[in-house]
Amino acid sequence: MGVNNSSPSGIDGNDDLLRYRSEFPILADNTYLISNSLGAMPREVHAALQGYADTWGSRGVRAWEERWWMLANEVGNEIGGLMGAPTGSVSCHQNVTTCQAVVASCLDFSGRRNKIVYDDLNFPSVMYFWEAQQALGARVHMVPTDDGIHVHTERLLDAIDEETLLVPISHVIFRSAYIQDAAAIIEKAHRVGALVVLDMFHSVGAMPVDVTALDTDFACGGVLKWLCGGPGTGFLYVRPDVAARLKPRLTGWIGHEQPFAFEIGPTRYTNSSYRFMNGTQNIAALEAARPGLKIIREVGVERIRAKSKRQTARIIELASRRGWKINTPVDPEKRAGTVSIDMPNSQGVARELIQRNILVDWRPRAGVRMAPHFYNSDEELESAFVAVDEILRAQAVAR
Ligand SMILES: Cc1ncc(COP(=O)(O)O)c(C=O)c1O
Repeated sequence: MGVNNSSPSGIDGNDDLLRYRSEFPILADNTYLISNSLGAMPREVHAALQGYADTWGSRGVRAWEERWWMLANEVGNEIGGLMGAPTGSVSCHQNVTTCQAVVASCLDFSGRRNKIVYDDLNFPSVMYFWEAQQALGARVHMVPTDDGIHVHTERLLDAIDEETLLVPISHVIFRSAYIQDAAAIIEKAHRVGALVVLDMFHSVGAMPVDVTALDTDFACGGVLKWLCGGPGTGFLYVRPDVAARLKPRLTGWIGHEQPFAFEIGPTRYTNSSYRFMNGTQNIAALEAARPGLKIIREVGVERIRAKSKRQTARIIELASRRGWKINTPVDPEKRAGTVSIDMPNSQGVARELIQRNILVDWRPRAGVRMAPHFYNSDEELESAFVAVDEILRAQAVAR
């Protein structure tokens, strides 16, 4: 263990995962509690991006056939391995919003079955996208939350009916870290003939998930948070039997059975994951994504989840002891990796914490969000709360 791993309080004495801290340079001088927003960058990303430049620089156009053309397939399979997806069922895209657009482009809104059902705790970009599809005939039905933390599952299930085409929902709610009852929602959707897109941004890499067991039709997410893969790589899983019957309108030469034949006329879609892709990939982003995926695979999502449950419970305890409202489920089985805390002057406190290199974020109707990952020590949680106490005391004196 290096200096960086030490824990003066001895709380972390048995935490084997702290040995990965040295793989993440930012941890040396920051308390990094913001993996729900942007996971820490693995040191190896320097080499990965250097390798990208070297390949481009020395191999030039040959890089496509030697490495780049199949990169999205390889990265897709690496991500797929963390979510129980069969080989060849995950394609890479820039972000989740684009993934929704690819799904939408497979659908027809002109019939009676044109209802899009989700809850109002969905990620706003996803909601903005589906709102905009109303111009093409989609009918959005949004189910309200009562408390801003939980989704009202019964209400959502009742809203999914014979006219429902698609249910694009978050597996884990970004604002509260509430874990939706995805199995019940998928079961109801399938019973009435609807499809489900599960946004797994806050579950893949943070907890064990299995898209095959869940039987979801689509799943999407990105690598920049819990997978420590940086911006620019989103992913889309399509269940193989569903994929075979879909023809995305958001398509292009990468989705063609023979892209280099440059045929004229209707697309002959490939049966690989590239069926859902369209044009040239962001190779640098794919290269940057790999070191994080490798570490997450090595650490293992079971261990990540076990530690997360313990550390988020400790954050809840530290906040509750101070009398602050927790905007996150207290039941560990319903809670993923983030704790949202409504503390006094929470936006100002978040700003001050960041000034002190304690990285958290603040969101309206959530409060200060703290998101420990496998590389955080218990000590860091304690010292973050000591810092909040100091900030609040200083603010009280200044008043
Ligand atoms: C659940 C969820 N979906 C999607 C996104 C981001 O969407 P995009 O990848 O289109 O930027 C986020 C980002 O915070 C998120 O939390």
